[in-house]
Amino acid sequence: MSFTEPLTFAYWVPNVSGGLVTSTIEQRTDWGYEYNRTLAQTAERNGFDYALSQVRYMASYGADHQHESTSFSLALLLATERLKVIAAVHPGLWHPGVLAKWVATADHLSGGRAAVNVVSGWFKDEFTSLGEPWLEHDERYRRSEEFIRALREIWTSDHAELRGDFYRIHDFDLKPKPVAVPGRAHPEIFQGGNSTAARRNGGRVADWYFSNGKDYEGFTEQVLEVREHAREAGRPQTGPGAVRFGLNGFLIARDSEREAREQLREIVAKANVEAVEGFRSAVQQAGASTGDGRGMWADSTFEDLVQYNDGFRTQLIGTPEQIADRAIEYKRRGANLLLLGFLHFQEEIEYFGRHVLPIVREKEAELAEREPEPQLVAGS
Ligand SMILES: Cc1cc2nc3c(=O)[nH]c(=O)nc-3n(C[C@H](O)[C@H](O)[C@H](O)COP(=O)(O)O)c2cc1C
Repeated sequence: MSFTEPLTFAYWVPNVSGGLVTSTIEQRTDWGYEYNRTLAQTAERNGFDYALSQVRYMASYGADHQHESTSFSLALLLATERLKVIAAVHPGLWHPGVLAKWVATADHLSGGRAAVNVVSGWFKDEFTSLGEPWLEHDERYRRSEEFIRALREIWTSDHAELRGDFYRIHDFDLKPKPVAVPGRAHPEIFQGGNSTAARRNGGRVADWYFSNGKDYEGFTEQVLEVREHAREAGRPQTGPGAVRFGLNGFLIARDSEREAREQLREIVAKANVEAVEGFRSAVQQAGASTGDGRGMWADSTFEDLVQYNDGFRTQLIGTPEQIADRAIEYKRRGANLLLLGFLHFQEEIEYFGRHVLPIVREKEAELAEREPEPQLVAGS
């Protein structure tokens, strides 16, 4: 990556009920289609390049009702013109050939804007309730790696072959292949996590590594390790084929820092304690279940878990100027994309486009002049 490349922005599609924070605070966000269609159109007018839908089959952290991610993503693609929509999918519940076919069609219907987020999963009950086996943490990631290799093979080969432990593909020719988009070998594949296994997969096979919310050091540490896995796998460090980084953050931009801080305080003060504690116990299947205890949510506090992807840790909270400064610092540390959640999505995405984004772009131009090439050293 060079600093002349603009930072891109994604937003979490609120396709599950209850918004992005597990709190009884008022949230003027709706999980239904009408709201989401308008939101997607607003987002693409306000500088967003991507939308990320969530996959949830049963209630958790609230989220009592959920719209399915792939069908919802397709609806948003058809309602927009430029926005790329990333559908979250679980390898244990999809066959890669069926998903590859689904994406190819969605890609044709949308002019090459379909993408996927391969989630290895943490919610055991979802699998057991559907009668599917629940694999041990690192096995889930081994399956995800094969799943990603299968997608890529099917999208790019006329005689797709894969002899894996989880999937077998033989002389398969997908027609039509996804749309040929300049600069993209195939629909983009995102994959997230925090554990050693997630980082390894990110470096070895994903186009994008998604990080949960992190402070500067926490983000840098992941970037360096994922890049190291990529280097070992023989991937380039920059340019086409290099792994790219997306970072989650819950954004609270207000005219004054005091208002923004007060908003955060109120969200946490009104946390739905029972739902947050229920979530804390369910995610023991993720980070805390790994051998080195490094996975996602392994060290999250109660406050962190009120935004269930540790989004407060990124600290995109304050005035537009303060938020732009942090965005630029994350860019310096390797972020290509910021994935944003909001309390009141519709109003706040508009506020972001009007007040925050122009400052980010100004500061990016200054950064590109000051430091044309990124520093890849720890803590830089
Ligand atoms: C940006 C991002 C989005 C995610 N979206 C989902 C999702 O929609 N559904 C889901 O079950 N898990 C989702 N996950 C969680 C991952 O599936 C996985 O369980 C988690 O990253 C486990 O991390 P670990 O390997 O560090 O333990 C997401 C993770 C990240 C970082």
